[in-house]
Amino acid sequence: MVQTSALPMAGKRVLLIIGGGIAAFKCHELIRSLRKKGASVRAILTKGGAEFVTPLTIGALTEDKVYQDLFDLTDEAEMGHIELSRQADLVVVAPATADLMAKMAVGLASDLATTTLMATDKPVLIAPAMNVRMWEHPATTRNLATLRGDGVRVVGPNEGDMACGEFGMGRMAEPDEILGAIETILTPRGVLTGTRALVTSGPTHEPLDPVRYIANKSSGKQGHAIAMALAHLGAETTLVSGPTQLSDPTGVNVVHVKTAQEMLAACETALPADIAVFAAAVADWRAEAPANTKIKKIGEASPELKLVPNPDILKTVAQLNAPLRPRLVIGFAAETNDVLAHAKAKRLKKGCDWLVANDVSDGTGIFGGDENEVHLITDKGMEDWPRMGKAEVAIRLAARIAGHIKGAAA
Ligand code: C5P
Repeated sequence: MVQTSALPMAGKRVLLIIGGGIAAFKCHELIRSLRKKGASVRAILTKGGAEFVTPLTIGALTEDKVYQDLFDLTDEAEMGHIELSRQADLVVVAPATADLMAKMAVGLASDLATTTLMATDKPVLIAPAMNVRMWEHPATTRNLATLRGDGVRVVGPNEGDMACGEFGMGRMAEPDEILGAIETILTPRGVLTGTRALVTSGPTHEPLDPVRYIANKSSGKQGHAIAMALAHLGAETTLVSGPTQLSDPTGVNVVHVKTAQEMLAACETALPADIAVFAAAVADWRAEAPANTKIKKIGEASPELKLVPNPDILKTVAQLNAPLRPRLVIGFAAETNDVLAHAKAKRLKKGCDWLVANDVSDGTGIFGGDENEVHLITDKGMEDWPRMGKAEVAIRLAARIAGHIKGAAA
């Protein structure tokens, strides 16, 4: 018999607002997964939501009354909108339609869902879902920015086939993704407790002589942010960092290295780990025999530089056998052309599970910048994530990692 108090989300109360979109059916699985983890779920079904899922099904899954009407006297007497929000630890809006997002952004309180959202002082998480053009409409972009500014957390949407027959951004996040985001909020510093993570970050410096080296423009911002996000979720995290201008993130065990060979050795020492994320921009080559003293200019002649390949750290770790191979190995692919084709081929060539690809060509401002626009490639396909801050990419990736690791463990 399962002891409910031992479940990871025991005692947590989620108020789920189900909006009017075809993705509402995914709430069935979401409610089931939340309850399996020990959370209680109370649902508000909007008028639109009730066109897609029935109060009977939702009520059966939540084992609770389903709230639908602001002006239902019995409901208000039993559990008014203020009380609904008071008795929750988190309010989740899924699917968050363009209409619901717009109403939230301007603060409309025209029905039970929006009135509850206005009345709440609890964290709010939305899972947007809509047609790609509605998602890309400047009004939705504006509303999303307003909501983020108001502290609303956002999970998804993803790219893919849509119920309307189109393809694009706007599919609601999958239930396990939403679950991961909920866990991150409700059990912070906890979801990855008991796991070990290894992250590489920054460039490597490959010496030519005591004062010169081969390097690249990587700032380390993305890798450092990922290490921080994983540590925040409770993973015991080792960050193997090449030379950067960044300070060591708190709560992370940082190993400083200069060269690719040192980075590989530090990674091997950090194993075994459950999760390994290789965000470093490792130099592909090093000088075969770095000079011990500064190479002198001799007339007009240029020195001969014999380069040899560096070890491929990602490939080495991805191709280890169990139990040394981490359960989830994630590579990065910084490309300047044919980003997606190269990235898909790279995932297979390197043997990693997931690959995060980004376009670092001139003009994107990504290499060294604070924002990133990535594509996540898994065995299930590819997702295009919108451009966002590197910290946000890290939080979202960490939530996905947590969902995957915990899903696999469940
Ligand atoms: O082959 P490429 O450099 O494009 O691959 C990028 C991915 O491989 C990144 O995840 C990077 O950290 C990793 N890599 C590595 N060791 C190398 C080269 C790349 O770990 N020598």
